[in-house]
Amino acid sequence: MDKTRIQIFDTTLRDGEQVPGCKLNKDQKLRLARTLEELGVDVIEAGFPISSPGDFEAVQAISAAAGDVTICALSRAVEKDIEAAAGAIKPAKRPRIHTGIGTSDSHIKFKFNATREAVMERAIAAVKFAKKFVEDVEFYAEDAGRTDNEFLAQICEAVVKAGATVLNIPDTTGYCLPREYGDKIKYLVEHIKGVDKVTISTHCHNDLGLATANSIEGVINGARQIECTINGLGERAGNTSLEECVMILQQHPYLGFVTGIHTQMLNPVSRLVSDEMGMPVQPNKAIVGSNAFAHSSGIHQDGVIKKRETYEIINPMDVGVDKSSIILTARSGRAALAYRLKELGHHITKLELDVLYSRFLQIADQQKEVIDDDLHRLIEAKDKVIASYSHKN
Ligand code: KIV
Ligand code: ZN
Repeated sequence: MDKTRIQIFDTTLRDGEQVPGCKLNKDQKLRLARTLEELGVDVIEAGFPISSPGDFEAVQAISAAAGDVTICALSRAVEKDIEAAAGAIKPAKRPRIHTGIGTSDSHIKFKFNATREAVMERAIAAVKFAKKFVEDVEFYAEDAGRTDNEFLAQICEAVVKAGATVLNIPDTTGYCLPREYGDKIKYLVEHIKGVDKVTISTHCHNDLGLATANSIEGVINGARQIECTINGLGERAGNTSLEECVMILQQHPYLGFVTGIHTQMLNPVSRLVSDEMGMPVQPNKAIVGSNAFAHSSGIHQDGVIKKRETYEIINPMDVGVDKSSIILTARSGRAALAYRLKELGHHITKLELDVLYSRFLQIADQQKEVIDDDLHRLIEAKDKVIASYSHKN
């Protein structure tokens, strides 16, 4: 089966960097941009150049250093924003301007105190203006998730006519249900004249924890670019997690989609972004959390020790984790204790295991986790433990 290539548009350096406390300096942005290119993303949204001179310089430096990856800069539908974006991405081999405007009735009324017609005019003018600087212009219909589909299709068709090459359909507030978002993309595919010449993009926020599900539904219904960030960083509850989308498409090959991401880099890149931004990753985060390949209950541990696939749907090495880990707690069984002791180089008999396991449970009940030092001490005291056990029995 021929697989369809999905473009990965990484916005860690723009939407991700908007997170309070995550601001990066120019060198950090440059370092991360180089890493994202190595990771295999297709587009790097490097920043919002009009927002500050520092961000302009960072986008400019990233553009100068970039290879074949597309470098994109954000702007509002405002000429001075577009000029700043164009100036910053000028050195890039593949520059893209990302411009747009709010299209939901809520944005039109409360943000702009305008009408649908006036917003449509501004959108067309912005795309035409951006086209004076670059060929590749992406249009975002902010709050598309809550925009009436008929109007959304009309404004998208108008900007395609004006020269837009990519149509970004953001669920800015993270409101949509997966089926609703998928239906929206399908509606656009079916109702925009000229849609076959452009790429439809998802950009989903995670306010209801649905960003990844919505992006995947978008792709299933015709989107060919996913906007996402490492570790799901982004405004409020975050943006779509790059690592989750990439691994969903990889682990479900029958869907027929591929990305250009080198998945073995996912965990190292996640750690790098977390360190540079000073933003820890929650331990139970899919793919890159410290518990993503850790097993702590006896039933699961026994299964994983017999065959990893009983409780793991991803080979940890495919995402840059050396191996699954067996965490010893009061819920662990004998198999896990024997396995960890063997890993530490201690080979014990079945009788010794029975005796040590009782002592292990006493320790485990007193602490959250039994670590290697506890196991070494357990082995050092082995003869004494066995002697006292034999004495009692
Ligand atoms: O969430 C959003 O709508 C955005 C746009 C600026 C693309 O980040
Ligand atoms: Zn966003």
